[in-house]
Order: sequence, then C-alpha cells, then structure tokens
Amino acid sequence: MKVLIVGSGGREHALAWKVAQSGRVEQVIVAPGNGGTATMRKCRNANVQVDDIYGLLQLAEREDVSFTLIGPEAPLVDGIVDRFEAADMPCFGPSAEAAQLEGSKAFAKHFMQRHGIPTANWAEFEQTAPALDYLASQSYPVVIKASGLAAGKGVIIAENPQQAEQAVRSMLEDRDYGSAGTAIVIEEYLSGEEASFIVMADGTEFIEFATSQDHKRALDGDRGPNTGGMGAYSPAPVVTPRVRQQVLEQVIKPTLEGMRTDGISYTGFLYAGLMIDDQGHAKVLEYNCRLGDPETQPLMLRLQTDLVDLIEAALQHRLASVHANWHNKPALGVVMTAAGYPDKYPKGLTISGKLHSTLECAVFHSGTRLVAGELLSSGGRVLCVTALGHDLQQARDQAYQRINEISFDHACYRTDIGHRALSG
Ligand code: AMP
Ligand code: GLY
Repeated sequence: MKVLIVGSGGREHALAWKVAQSGRVEQVIVAPGNGGTATMRKCRNANVQVDDIYGLLQLAEREDVSFTLIGPEAPLVDGIVDRFEAADMPCFGPSAEAAQLEGSKAFAKHFMQRHGIPTANWAEFEQTAPALDYLASQSYPVVIKASGLAAGKGVIIAENPQQAEQAVRSMLEDRDYGSAGTAIVIEEYLSGEEASFIVMADGTEFIEFATSQDHKRALDGDRGPNTGGMGAYSPAPVVTPRVRQQVLEQVIKPTLEGMRTDGISYTGFLYAGLMIDDQGHAKVLEYNCRLGDPETQPLMLRLQTDLVDLIEAALQHRLASVHANWHNKPALGVVMTAAGYPDKYPKGLTISGKLHSTLECAVFHSGTRLVAGELLSSGGRVLCVTALGHDLQQARDQAYQRINEISFDHACYRTDIGHRALSG
C-alpha cells in the first residue's frame, strides 16, 4: 500500500520513518516533506503544500493511497478531513468541527467548563476595556492567549499589570497575531510540571500513547523565549500511575464523551497539554488535535506496534480490538536549531556528519531541504536527534554523542533535555 503524510517537520519525518517500517507499506509520500523524507528508504516527497487541501486530495487520489495522515493543525482546522471524507478518501484526523478544540482556545475553554474538565480559571474578551477591568482583579503572573491558531506564539505570560495591558492591546488593537487575536482568553497562571498526554481516538474508543514531556523554552534551565519545542523524552515520570488514572477519568474520557454529547465525534490524535501541580493534580493547559512536535520523535522510537495497523483500526472504528506496545526503554530527542531561533535565524546552512538513522538512534529532519544533492537548513528547528537507551541517562548520552558528530554553522541546542526526570 501507499500512505500519504501531510507536513514537513520532524514529526512528519518520524511518522514516515515508522510507517515505512510496516511490511505492508510499499511507499510513503510526504507532502511537502523535507530533506530527510526526500532521502529515506521507501519514501519520497510531493511538492504540494499543507494549505493546498484540493491539491492534497488530488495527490491522494492520483497515487491511490490507502490513507492520509495529517501532521500539523492548520489543515485539520481548515477541514481537510471533511474534504477527504466527502471524496471517500480515508484521512486520519479530526473534522474541522472537532479540531476547534485546538483551533479556538475560547471554544476549548467553554467546552471544558461545560463538561467539568479541570483547567485554569479564565475569561474571554473581544474588547480592550472589559479585558483591562478584569485584569485589575487578577493576581500576577497572568496568562494572555490569542484565541485562534498562532503557530505556538500566541501565549504571553505577563508578570505585572503593565505587561498584561500591553499584551491585551497587542492582540485586540494592534492585531499582532492577525485574526487569531480577534478574541483573547485571559487565564490564571498555573505552576507545576508540564506533560503531554496523547491518545488516538476513533469516535467511540481510544488507546493511550506513551506519555512524554516537551521543553518549550529556548535555553537551558527552562529560560529564554518559548519555542515550538527544543527536545522531548518519553515516558514522563511526572505522570505517575495515580496521575495517569486521574487524567484518564477527569480529562480524556470526559473530553471524548463531551464531544459526543455535543454532537461531535472525535477521530484522530488528541493531545492534552497538562500542568501537574506538586500534589499530583493535573489541569489542561491546552488541547492539540494532532501529535506533538518534538514529542512524536521519541514516541516513534518507542512504539513497537505497527503504526499502520493502529491507524487502520482507528479509521475503521475498531480501536477497541488493538493495543499499542511501547519499548520499556525510554527515548529522548534533542532539537538542533539555527542560531537566533525562535527569532531571526539564517537559512541555507550546509549540514554534514553522521545523519543516518537506526532503530536505536534516529536523526529526524525538521527544517531541511535537499538542493542538488546537498542538505541545507530551511527552518529554525533543523534536526531532532533522538535515541533509545536502557535508561533515560543513556538515551540522553547517545543523543548528545550523535549531535557531536553532526555539524552546521552556529548550530544551537539545549544541553539539559530530560533534566526534570534525571534530577528527580
Ligand atoms: P499553550 O499554547 O496554551 O499550550 O501555551 C503554551 C505554553 O505556555 C504552555 O506549554 C505553557 O508552558 C505555557 N502556559 C500556557 N497556559 C499557561 C497557564 N495557564 N499557566 C502557566 N503556563 C501556561
Ligand atoms: N510540542 C508542542 C506541540 O507540538 O504543540
């Protein structure tokens, strides 16, 4: 069979790598893909962009793919699954209606309130004056979020009233986040440790994925600006068996049941971004309607079950009959970025070194492209070097050892990925 994967990041490279391992798959097509998917065995890129839903549907039909797997949120929120379904082409992900859980933070907050799902206290605003009135009664820090999709950039943690006012004005008046900031959510700041809790849902049943933890800040010690993610590892020990049970009962099940009650069937990956306090109580920071990047990279190294079997089971609404097996070994991925990321950074840097992947250590490409046989950087996050280990320390050592054998000008990376799990 042929499988189409939509996206161009490290998440999509890791998905393509895993799908290509299935004995039933002859070819994986990645649209638009990157330098890693261009050169991987059984894999090729197709030059169709993620926002070209009609072009992607034509590609899927022309290539007669068995199913399409969507990596990023934007085409999901734009209704790619609905369009494919209308054309009888299997496509794994939530409908546009269901993807509002990520596409609109206001929708997600109203939804959680309606269904009693634990989350930070909040209020929604479309006008500056009531937002500022509300801020006057809040304690600091406080969190200001653009309600719509802002590519991971629409969250401001304001330390004082001045910063909060500036954030509100930048979103509602200056439209710094475009239409994503037409409405904003102001919410209580939660402290604790974050974890990513991901399940695969088929409308009725779900199966859990292994837990993971991302590192969102650019610099060691969780300092510096927020990024798309500088590294991740799995499992996340902060999700103890008791926390896991609470998340299943108070977050995952009520979310899927709540969607059904609201007349929306949720099929696809559902990612609950959690904040877990020091008492072990988890609250939802956000929902994503897709897998995480870079969480997917360590997850794919740990997944022992054929991903194609799981996706087919989900598309055929028989997830109750399958099970995902995970390596006992932990996995850890470190993102190598171009200097300056997440702000301004150079592109077109020549990448060299040991870039091959094995089942134990994989170099997943994020922002790379192949130009006349040469591998060049094309984004801020360039590679995610991911390794399995007997324990997390060994996984980390393997990943950093491989990083030492890869080079491009002024490559940057955090040196402390996994620190919370290793210092505990
Ligand atoms: P979001 O896009 O909503 O996940 O926010 C991005 C990041 O901002 C999260 O991963 C957290 O690190 C941080 N964040 C978001 N909401 C809160 C909150 N209520 N309290 C503390 N940190 C938050
Ligand atoms: N790693 C965070 C995300 O994918 O949203």
